[in-house]
Amino acid sequence: MAKKSSKSSSKDRVLELRTLIHEHDYNYHVLDKPVITDFEYDKLFRELQDLEAAHPELVTHDSPTQRVGAEALEGFEKVAHRRPMISLSNTYSIDEVREFDERVKKFLDSEKSIEYFCELKFDGLAVELIYEKGRLTGAITRGDGNVGENVLSNVRTMRSIPLALKGKTPALLEVRGEALMMKKEFAKLNEAQQEAGEQPFANPRNAAAGAVRQLDPRITAKRPLRMFCYGPGVVEGHKSTSQEDWLDYLRQHGLPALHSAPWKKIRPRLKEGYSHEIPLGAVCANIEEAIEYYSTILKHRHELPFDIDGVVIKVNSFALQDRLGTIARSPRWATAAKFPPEQATTIVSDIAVQVGRTGALTPVAIMQPVRVGGVTVTNATLHNQSEIDRKDVRIGDTVIIQRAGDVIPEVVQVVLDKRPAKSKKFRIPENCPVCSEPAVLPEGEVVTRCVNSLCPAILNESLKHFAARRAMNIEDLGDKIIEQMTEHGLVKSFSDLYKLSKEQIQSLPRQGDKSAQNIYDSIQKSANTTLSRFIFGLGIRFVGEQTAKSLAANLKTLDAFLEATEEQLVEIEDIGPKVARSIMLRLENKDFRKEIKKLIENGVQIEKPKKVSASSQTLNGVSIVITGTLPMGRDEIKDLVLSLGGKTPGSVSKNTNYVLAGDEAGSKLDKAQELGVPVLDWDGFQKLIGG
Ligand code: IVH
Repeated sequence: MAKKSSKSSSKDRVLELRTLIHEHDYNYHVLDKPVITDFEYDKLFRELQDLEAAHPELVTHDSPTQRVGAEALEGFEKVAHRRPMISLSNTYSIDEVREFDERVKKFLDSEKSIEYFCELKFDGLAVELIYEKGRLTGAITRGDGNVGENVLSNVRTMRSIPLALKGKTPALLEVRGEALMMKKEFAKLNEAQQEAGEQPFANPRNAAAGAVRQLDPRITAKRPLRMFCYGPGVVEGHKSTSQEDWLDYLRQHGLPALHSAPWKKIRPRLKEGYSHEIPLGAVCANIEEAIEYYSTILKHRHELPFDIDGVVIKVNSFALQDRLGTIARSPRWATAAKFPPEQATTIVSDIAVQVGRTGALTPVAIMQPVRVGGVTVTNATLHNQSEIDRKDVRIGDTVIIQRAGDVIPEVVQVVLDKRPAKSKKFRIPENCPVCSEPAVLPEGEVVTRCVNSLCPAILNESLKHFAARRAMNIEDLGDKIIEQMTEHGLVKSFSDLYKLSKEQIQSLPRQGDKSAQNIYDSIQKSANTTLSRFIFGLGIRFVGEQTAKSLAANLKTLDAFLEATEEQLVEIEDIGPKVARSIMLRLENKDFRKEIKKLIENGVQIEKPKKVSASSQTLNGVSIVITGTLPMGRDEIKDLVLSLGGKTPGSVSKNTNYVLAGDEAGSKLDKAQELGVPVLDWDGFQKLIGG
């Protein structure tokens, strides 16, 4: 008897936990407004995992614990769409948008203004989600429009997509949308990609498309993908009356879709710039309002957290859409008003080869300065030899370059008609351009490397990395000084820095008394550091800042790090076999160990790990937006808030607890005042954190 009641109460709790977790996933991944801390979320998640482990019969396919787990696939299964996924006709100018409106009116034989629903044209990968009786049972890429690929195992890992719909569910709901990656997440991913010695992605679209079409869902799960739903496929058991109504319906069922409002209400708010509080779908009373929407979004496109390549203008009423129908594989009731591309043409005056910290030889196109997307561009990375070969970029070539949002400019293509006679294919040199030792291209890799451990370029780049703000933070030791120090033989290793006297620094060309003192002081100051900064600074291949933090958090002391075994390392979260192997290779190297010993002998001191007790987490769950100039560096304040259990989001919303405002605080302060978020000055902040 007792057993039965415990089982039924477990069942209730499992159901309750699932609902709660779905709710929190939605708040976090769709609304960007978490209402609990990550810690509390993890607690709920773990409770659910434990209950399911104790009662395996309660595990269902739509439990949040079941998002990942699937094995890698051999290939994707081809699946037909119930209704073809057709595409949109494009317009490239305001005149063409007006012509579109004329065609709509003519077809409907009406003089009256047409109400349009305007939304963003997301630059991602189109995917159709299929919910049967409210459960996610299918996810298909667009493919050729008729037949796509079944990517359900991957889509299930995306936390912005509900595995089960909320509320009263229709028998069948097919919804189409775009999977994409936020610009911020993309930047982080590319940084990690580069740290891991892998090819960076050209843009968020490629990264998202690659993640959705990844055969191993465990890899997809690690790529932060988002989804925006916009259009219906086959829907049974529900009828929406307009695009506006349809998006509302999707959101009510927990699906991610743009919020909307009448354009007249949005217009005054968007004027100043975009904030994520502003709805981005607009109901426009006529085509002129739709054009205003287009022009305003065009102006603010770079402020959006994701890439778009235009706006989509749709006849709002579904009844009118039905009357208009489709022609030649695109609907008569909609148009994609595309943005002018951010491309420009220039000439490659040279191709330089840079040597990085890991010895990687990276070719860079040096170009005649050209303005694109609002900035002047002079270099574009060419990544590696195989990229150069693919595009066949040569010195003297006229090239089309592109700058998509915040992404590093890239060469899109060569204008072959303008290629000078007798130009030669470019080859990365066989020897390192800095030390002249032979470079190597390992079998099966694309990156050529200098492997001379005494190469001055590697030494310089390693020292720059060691001194960097996120590593040892040697504030006054700039790149130029490092280069002078190595050139004059003052510094041959990290540990040499801590033996330098002020006089030695002053002996460098153009070095004054004051600046030598500053450099000396900041080197000394950096000697007191943390284990994670120290490990990160050592520049071990594949060990980025995040990995260094995990190592420090788990191993706690330098001795434990030096004695770590490979088995121990792979047990640590975020550390896979490749990273563990790379760390072991360093730890097994006698010179590396000697260098660490010398660093300690020369005065580097690693702080004892602070015991983080619950009572020191004074900012648990508190979110503080930092703005303006403050007595402490932005990154230091962030670290402080994080270490006390708080969060430091980048923008102000209703859920922000405080705004910490220094001098010259700008729009974030205005926003705080507008939303009634309490504003702290430096003293107030000190009080909040207890002195
Ligand atoms: S509606 C019947 N709305 O653009 C047309 N499409 O060429 C259904 N896209 O394949 C498309 N954002 O991948 C629609 N807000 C949006 C969109 C959007 C991006 C993509 C979609 C489609 C292509 C159209």
